[in-house]
Amino acid sequence: MRAILNRRPWNRTITSRLIVGAVTIALASVLGGCAGSPSILNTHSGYADRTATLSWVLFGIATLVFIIVTVLVTIAILRGRGHDEEEPVRNGPRAEDRRTILLVLVSGAVIPAVVLVALMLIGISIEQAEAAANSTLTVEVVGHRWWWEVRYPQQGITTANEIHIPAGQAVTVKLTTGDVIHSFWVPQLHGKIDLIPGQTNTISLEADSPGVYEGQCAEFCGLQHANMRFLVIADDDAAFERWVMRQQRPAPQVVDAVDSLVFEGQQAFLGSACVYCHTIRGTSASGFIGPDLTHIASRRTIGAGILENTPGNLAGWIVNSQALKPGNLMPPMNLDASQVQAIIAYLETLE
Ligand code: CUA
Repeated sequence: MRAILNRRPWNRTITSRLIVGAVTIALASVLGGCAGSPSILNTHSGYADRTATLSWVLFGIATLVFIIVTVLVTIAILRGRGHDEEEPVRNGPRAEDRRTILLVLVSGAVIPAVVLVALMLIGISIEQAEAAANSTLTVEVVGHRWWWEVRYPQQGITTANEIHIPAGQAVTVKLTTGDVIHSFWVPQLHGKIDLIPGQTNTISLEADSPGVYEGQCAEFCGLQHANMRFLVIADDDAAFERWVMRQQRPAPQVVDAVDSLVFEGQQAFLGSACVYCHTIRGTSASGFIGPDLTHIASRRTIGAGILENTPGNLAGWIVNSQALKPGNLMPPMNLDASQVQAIIAYLETLE
């Protein structure tokens, strides 16, 4: 082979370029998306562990096939010239032809069949391990363009874009949609699962340790698909219990004599169009088109994960959410500055 390479220097250039290209592609694929919260390789559940292992197995097999094919193609290129004279017509296949047919059958049919059946079995075992998980808590998630409604039917809680779960426990998540197809994806905890009109899909979600895990809609659902995010917050048992108790409470009563700005804010909220779309339990606001705001101040983000939940961001959202998330259902509100300030003061009390 060295003699051939020396005879044709361009072949050496092509080979080295092929190798550099292959190594670059392999490194880019391996290193891209390894770190950070929403990575499938930074796993925090048994399901995600098994999925990541399957990914590595697939990657290993693909790499092996790539190397073998590259070597074979390289050999074919190097040997190609000088071997293309017309073969004389013969009677019956030669031994070399039989070897070629055997090679094609084994590498084209037998090996792929074995590999695919093995991968299918691993896939089935991942699903079976999930089906065997014991869960006592059920969370219902409804996809909306472009936010997530989150209900805890056993606890009587409704919230949005934030799913609290107790760490170390399997939780049944029932997924439906209020409009189009969405897909629920928390890369560190579970694979993607679609939310399909007229159907309820169920998964078992579990986080092995307390933490905040980022989620994302993974099925194109319109203009703000990329801004349809959510958080899964895994709490230790005591923190989860505290969260449940807090969320079960209705909004606190507001008394003018105690805090006139908050009272003014509540009056402005209840006297405006806000009440047609939002619920604040314990008040007359009982709309259900937008997120339940009974405990809005307890949430980390607004606008389905696009903004930190700060008074400034909340004010910007209320005045004109269309500037922040064009196409969402909330219209710009015609409120003066003092009304906005009072409404923010009120919403900040809804912890
Ligand atoms: Cu919902 Cu994409």
